[in-house]
Amino acid sequence: FCPKGRPAPSGRVNHRIMKDNPKVVDTIDVEDISEKAAFCRCWRTKNWPYCDGSHGAHNRETGDNVGPLVVNAK
Ligand code: FES
Repeated sequence: FCPKGRPAPSGRVNHRIMKDNPKVVDTIDVEDISEKAAFCRCWRTKNWPYCDGSHGAHNRETGDNVGPLVVNAK
């Protein structure tokens, strides 16, 4: 069950990103990040692997508390 007592929808976190692949793996070279980059950890973004803010709706709907991984370039 989710934190607010709702039944968990399924054991899967990825509902639509690269479903043809047996495993979703992304590689980003740090040198290619100009200032900062926010990477999705909720699997709801429409701009994988980057966060597009979709975690907000996901958190509201499910009671979850996920957010992006933010990488700052030096
Ligand atoms: Fe997934 Fe922001 S959209 S963490």
